[in-house]
Amino acid sequence: MRKKIIAGNWKLNMTQDQTKSFLSEVSSKLNQNDLTQVQALVCPSFTSLAVAANAIKESGLTIALGAQNCSQHKSGAYTGEINTEMLKEIGVTHVLVGHSERREHFSEDNATINAKVKTGIEAGLHVILCCGESEATRESGETDAWVAGQIEAGIKGLELNDFASRITIAYEPIWAIGTGKVCDSAEANRVIKVIRCKLAQLLNQTTADATSILYGGSVKSSNIDEIMGQSDIDGALVGGASIQVAEFPALVASAAKEASKAAA
Ligand code: PGA
Repeated sequence: MRKKIIAGNWKLNMTQDQTKSFLSEVSSKLNQNDLTQVQALVCPSFTSLAVAANAIKESGLTIALGAQNCSQHKSGAYTGEINTEMLKEIGVTHVLVGHSERREHFSEDNATINAKVKTGIEAGLHVILCCGESEATRESGETDAWVAGQIEAGIKGLELNDFASRITIAYEPIWAIGTGKVCDSAEANRVIKVIRCKLAQLLNQTTADATSILYGGSVKSSNIDEIMGQSDIDGALVGGASIQVAEFPALVASAAKEASKAAA
């Protein structure tokens, strides 16, 4: 059975102080039982990672720590960059790669994203590879080909046996991110099936079936049940709602409820 995952992408939010108090409040609302069925993950800014690592340790809860980005380079003359070793030293186990905001605002193309995926995997990190179409691509009827192309380019050259255990895909239609315009859950499920078919074609069916694929874009406690109820959606990558104290635990609880149903 594929692992259910609720990943919080904090984006450019939360100072160290805010990180500490947020995680202490959230910890008191999270249930360790739920966390055995669901991988909960938080991805703060680089400067809050160490504080988050401590807060998680103090909570005694099984919450994973992710970075929102990493350099594709191991070391050297790359001013302003952070490498995978630096992240691992703090206790980071996951990294987001290819988020649409990195593609759009920081000009990350498929080749850069592929290099980051490879660097993350080589370092032993879990990589969450993001993909998703713009409104214009959707309107022109090219969503499936676009998303499949992003996946193919993103995983190019990876070893098959590295794949399922360490790569998760997040399908995030750009028009649904931060807009309140959630993608219809049946449609999100359909695109996620297209992604899984592409993985089967590029790798093999067993690997495709074992890979968790998340939905992202305006996920919150009021729509998570419907999203988690879909056959091929294994969790959510959440922005805005993930930094609200009442929301994050509710999202994890919903995913845990779905995991129990699937196990029954
Ligand atoms: P949102 O962001 O939940 O605020 O729409 C999702 C994301 O960007 O990962």
